[in-house]
Amino acid sequence: MTRRVIARGYGGPEVLAVVEVAPVPPARREVAIEVRAIGVNPIDYKRYSGAFGTDPASLPLSLGAEAAGVVVEVGEDASGPDGPLSPGDEVIVYPAEGAYADRLVVAADSVVRKPPSLPWNEAAGLLVAGTTAVETVDAAKIGAGDLLLVHGAAGAVGSCVVQVACSRGATVIGTARPENHDYLRSLGATPMSYGAGLAGRVRVLAPEGVDAVIDTVGGEEAVDVSVELVRDPPRMVTTVAVPRAVEAGFLGVGGTNPASREVRRRLRSPVVDLADRGDLRVRVARTYWLSEVARAHTELARSHPAGKFVLLP
Ligand SMILES: NC(=O)c1ccc[n+]([C@@H]2O[C@H](COP(=O)([O-])OP(=O)(O)OC[C@H]3O[C@@H](n4cnc5c(N)ncnc54)[C@H](OP(=O)(O)O)[C@@H]3O)[C@@H](O)[C@H]2O)c1
Repeated sequence: MTRRVIARGYGGPEVLAVVEVAPVPPARREVAIEVRAIGVNPIDYKRYSGAFGTDPASLPLSLGAEAAGVVVEVGEDASGPDGPLSPGDEVIVYPAEGAYADRLVVAADSVVRKPPSLPWNEAAGLLVAGTTAVETVDAAKIGAGDLLLVHGAAGAVGSCVVQVACSRGATVIGTARPENHDYLRSLGATPMSYGAGLAGRVRVLAPEGVDAVIDTVGGEEAVDVSVELVRDPPRMVTTVAVPRAVEAGFLGVGGTNPASREVRRRLRSPVVDLADRGDLRVRVARTYWLSEVARAHTELARSHPAGKFVLLP
């Protein structure tokens, strides 16, 4: 039997359950993966929280979007973006609907090769944050000489945004709580505490405002401060397209932007290459067993150490 996590209903982490299901073989153009590590993302708990509405007909929900593991069975004509796949190949799976499992059967085109340099935990948490970050940096047209403000710069996405923007020659001011300021400095950003007076503190460093904003927080403060400080409003990009951000003119990436799906697929291999060269590092903050998924979600939704949470099957 194989194990996977489902949400039996809508609510808090108490609706989660680990269930056993019989393994199925891969069909044509599919592969079966023995999972080594699974990336945890806020979207995973938002899906069953009711934040995006509720649809009892879609229950139970299969959770998870990204994982890393070893190919164990290959269907006919199973070729991924990097070429034909064989048992024993070490891979990263994204997008991977239902990735919270110890075995996955997925379309071969959702599988890219894992470089030997990348540990399983980092590989599992690389592609949601990494591709989102590159998409936002591209959308904000960040290049050499730009002054960029990043809200939530110590988060999984925000820390990738900082690294990618700095590597393109931008100067980055990143908001985070004080405990994360040294981490932001290590990534190349100037740290800034969020909270009352944020716009004034940024103006000390940027009297003329900033060229662009990337927001991974979506709160009132992030929207207000961005609108006040950005010199070029079309260069405000958010990963959390709350109604106020949309009204304020932020460009939303991800769920609200259907073009993102293809962009993310195209960005997978370049992001893996960045990580392989050491130019993009995913910090793994905590690991949990699959059976501890409810605790992982409870802790991810609170203030937590900077970096990715990873589940181990
Ligand atoms: N649209 C998409 O395709 C897409 C893709 C990925 C993620 N997302 C969304 O993007 C958001 C971030 O995801 P993530 O994986 O990076 O989450 P994460 O790792 O939990 O990071 C969130 C960060 O927000 C910071 N934070 C909390 N309150 C803040 C505030 N008031 N001002 C500034 N920073 C604050 C925290 O930093 P401190 O510890 O320093 O407080 C935390 O590190 C989530 O809402 C997620 O659902 C969207």
